[in-house]
Amino acid sequence: MNKILNQNKNSWNKVAHHFDGKDALPSYGPFTQTEDELNLFGEIQNKRVLDIGFGSGHSLLYMANKGAIELWGIDLSESQKEAAEKTLVGFQPKLYCAPMEEDIGLPKAYFDIVYSIYAIGWTTDLPKTFQLIHSYLKKGGTFIFSWDHPLYAHLKSENGRFYLDSSYQEEGLKVFENFKEEGTTMSVYKRKLATYINDLIQAGFSIEAVIESDVKREWKEVDAEVSERYYSLYKAKMFPSTMVIKARKL
Ligand SMILES: C[S@@+](CC[C@H](N)C(=O)[O-])C[C@H]1O[C@@H](n2cnc3c(N)ncnc32)[C@H](O)[C@@H]1O
Repeated sequence: MNKILNQNKNSWNKVAHHFDGKDALPSYGPFTQTEDELNLFGEIQNKRVLDIGFGSGHSLLYMANKGAIELWGIDLSESQKEAAEKTLVGFQPKLYCAPMEEDIGLPKAYFDIVYSIYAIGWTTDLPKTFQLIHSYLKKGGTFIFSWDHPLYAHLKSENGRFYLDSSYQEEGLKVFENFKEEGTTMSVYKRKLATYINDLIQAGFSIEAVIESDVKREWKEVDAEVSERYYSLYKAKMFPSTMVIKARKL
């Protein structure tokens, strides 16, 4: 495992408790329309599903409650795996603690659905990750993921106005020295929207939907207070917080 992955793994073990049940299906992300509004998955009954970066396991629980027949998942952090095992007691999930960018021998051409809720952007190798996901899917299988809208991460709000605090043009590693105020270092790659789309195409996917999120139905009519937080209703009403992409293996 490379140095960044090792460091991120240790950090995720420390911060896992902040993410218990957060950003899990039917939610696609902060302030974002849910699956109940977007209806991207279609029929889940009797489907074999694989969750990339399963976190506390709540998205897999959603899949179980919708009748998925096999629940598989991969996540970098042991603490997350322990949390997910508790969330999924009684469902016999197959959970693996490993980086999504490594081939750990998951079955090929096997899954009806592979998905990832707010985890895919943590990969250190996006092309390899998309190639692996493509290989896990059956022909005709669906891949859906959500992640921060790539421009949102550069946008800051100050006194109700927005500015770019870093260059959208420059892709590369961003290092957080004190992630979640837990004194731990986390590194994540900033990528442009086109990079996600082009890497999907390169991996052999056909893209069926690209969603730049809007706020959930119930927040449409709510007046948003001016806020300088990274995720805020104020910011999300002006600019998509999340991108969701649905792709298919032809
Ligand atoms: C915000 S959480 C995801 C929440 C989760 N998808 C859910 O539905 O509840 C991000 C997850 O990505 C995992 N992660 C980070 N880097 C990873 C990597 N390279 N490979 C696999 N999992 C990774 C973290 O351990 C963490 O559990």
